[in-house]
Amino acid sequence: MTAPTIVVLGSVNLDIVASAPRLPVAGETVTDASLNRYPGGKGANQALAARRLGANVYLVARVGNDSVADEALSILRDDGVDLQYCETDESTSTGIALIAVAPSGENQIVVAPGANRTLLPELLHIPEGDGLICQLEVPADSVCKAAIEFPGFVCVNLAPAMQVPVEVLQNADLIVVNETEAAYYGSSLSAAGGLIATTFGARGAELRRGEQVLANTLPPEVNAIDATGAGDTFTAALTVALLEKVDPQRALQFACTAAALSTTVAGAQTSLPQRKDVDSVAI
Ligand code: RIB
Repeated sequence: MTAPTIVVLGSVNLDIVASAPRLPVAGETVTDASLNRYPGGKGANQALAARRLGANVYLVARVGNDSVADEALSILRDDGVDLQYCETDESTSTGIALIAVAPSGENQIVVAPGANRTLLPELLHIPEGDGLICQLEVPADSVCKAAIEFPGFVCVNLAPAMQVPVEVLQNADLIVVNETEAAYYGSSLSAAGGLIATTFGARGAELRRGEQVLANTLPPEVNAIDATGAGDTFTAALTVALLEKVDPQRALQFACTAAALSTTVAGAQTSLPQRKDVDSVAI
């Protein structure tokens, strides 16, 4: 089988991660955390996940002219994600995500998007490919333009949840949401013309078209320590499997397995599984 070529349009962040005894509530200070820095950003994570699962991958993104960019792009570079469409914006800094992670693996994330916000529609250069993956940490108008114009399979991960032009839903072959995002979009998801995958964390995921459920599955049991990047892994894995023409049930199992494995290692990109590791667990 020829490896699919996937274009990821999306964000690049450096994740500053505090692993804390628990997550704070609003207005509270929690101490005794340990601090780490990891390459992240939903776009970059999805690009790396697709690459590790066997796809050829272009990342279309923008970073600042700073040392944070080198740090944020380092794993993508080492793993062979094509960065020729990742441009530098001279006016802003590279995106930063501040993340708190509890021992259970649950997290809270606040993003300062910086250069990700400068990936405007008029600056887009989208190469050819079999599939396009977008999320919403770059301007929604750019996602909309790319979704309308891309000739191949289009996946849009509606994260973080925000208003999007209806054309995004109409032009996506696959929409991916978690249950919080599904609640945010509510009945507006009925405008989606393609597949909708909803993830439920440790309770698995469901794939449907309209009201018809095509597949659902539980993930393998794992010792989850950090959920950061699990949704990105799921999105990339499901897109790779569907481009490989895997049937919906097996494609969903593959995506859930990949996402579950990603929760067993700390960090976003540091945790993304290799194809052989997913294949050895996925049924
Ligand atoms: O989906 C996880 C990602 O969200 C993190 O890597 C962080 O950068 C935020 O963008």
